[in-house]
Amino acid sequence: MAGKYGTPLFVYDEDHLRSRCREYTAAFSARHTDTEIIYASKAFNCVAMCQIAAQEGLGLDVSTAGELHTAIKAGVPGDKLYLHGNNKSPAELEMALDYGVGRIIVDSLDELHLLEELASARKVTAKIYLRITPGIKVYTHEFLETGGESVKFGFVLADGVAREAMAAAIKSPSLELMGIHSHIGSQIFALHSYARAVKIVFDFLAEIRSQLGWVAPEVNLGGGLGIGYQADDAPSSVDELADIILNEVKSECARRVYPLPKIMVEPGRSIVGNAAVTLYTVGTIKEIPHIKKFVCVDGGMSDNLRTSMYGAVYEALLANNPGDADEHCVCVAGKHCETGDVVVKEAMLPPVQTGDILVTPATGAYGYSMANNYNRQPRPAVVLAKNGQCREIIRRESLDDLTARDLSL
Ligand code: LLP
Repeated sequence: MAGKYGTPLFVYDEDHLRSRCREYTAAFSARHTDTEIIYASKAFNCVAMCQIAAQEGLGLDVSTAGELHTAIKAGVPGDKLYLHGNNKSPAELEMALDYGVGRIIVDSLDELHLLEELASARKVTAKIYLRITPGIKVYTHEFLETGGESVKFGFVLADGVAREAMAAAIKSPSLELMGIHSHIGSQIFALHSYARAVKIVFDFLAEIRSQLGWVAPEVNLGGGLGIGYQADDAPSSVDELADIILNEVKSECARRVYPLPKIMVEPGRSIVGNAAVTLYTVGTIKEIPHIKKFVCVDGGMSDNLRTSMYGAVYEALLANNPGDADEHCVCVAGKHCETGDVVVKEAMLPPVQTGDILVTPATGAYGYSMANNYNRQPRPAVVLAKNGQCREIIRRESLDDLTARDLSL
């Protein structure tokens, strides 16, 4: 495969992708009749992936014009789309209104007023959620926490900020408030954080019902389920997530005599993360005596930003020699002009040679989607594997692609 498509190369397993979509649908629908799984496409967005999610009956979370455009190109109907973003531009909101995006998740009062104006000018009613920040700390990398009160996302519950926004949304003739949204963070292992978020959400909904008389038809509880990056990671299952969320929702509703709303979740990483590996070709091998051995590959922070950005930990193996017992610790470095350009800080590998194919598992989420052209490195190709066959779903960027938009003096 590396020979045919070149390296670095992302290889996705189509069956894995589809079975994770089905696992989510089955787990949630078995516990509550009115649920929807929305794939958070930022984890890996391209036409083929949007099509797979849509074919599996999932909704799609898009958070920029680019992700929305891709979903439109993939033929995903508007009513399956959910538009997010803490700073949506007027053009993005207009694009969403024109395409009939099912729900726009409003993130600030400025946006609420802007959307009101745009919808009223078009004589349409925009169906919206308000995103609230439940103000809880979850145990994950600080860059991946989104539920605390000092993040840029959503309306905080303190000081009546969220309540004021709800009142404005309910009153607006050009907005239809369909529900609320909360996303507490990403790569979460401690599922009790979800139960706490559900409780806070329903405390808030109960307060809104008593103060404003509004009852939520829909509640979107975001994504965030953690995955295993290393062999000994022990992430929770989708069934466990569904259990904890839906048990808590049901008990909160029962306790308050609150009508059970439609419940949505928005997983990204846990749909695509373990569905892909990256293949690299080993180039320079450099040993600094008594200190470190560097195995340099033909990609790096341009295809996997997560190691340098979050200190994420990956494993590596050699495609041509996966089972050798004689392993030693090396640093798998990239080819970029940056000391922090590391793919795997400490990888246990058998003897490596230039030309070997090195594989890093679990790169399906936020790998390609955060790929970049640092050092004018062309972005890799992405292939989809099924039944021993592969097909390209994103072609490798060429050197001419890199200069295609440059304008000469
Ligand atoms: N919903 C919303 C509103 C989100 O912001 C996100 C992720 C998700 C759902 C999906 O979360 P997931 O199930 O994938 O955890 N670049 C980082 C992850 C950033 C997550 C951003 N938001 C990383 O590489 O770990």
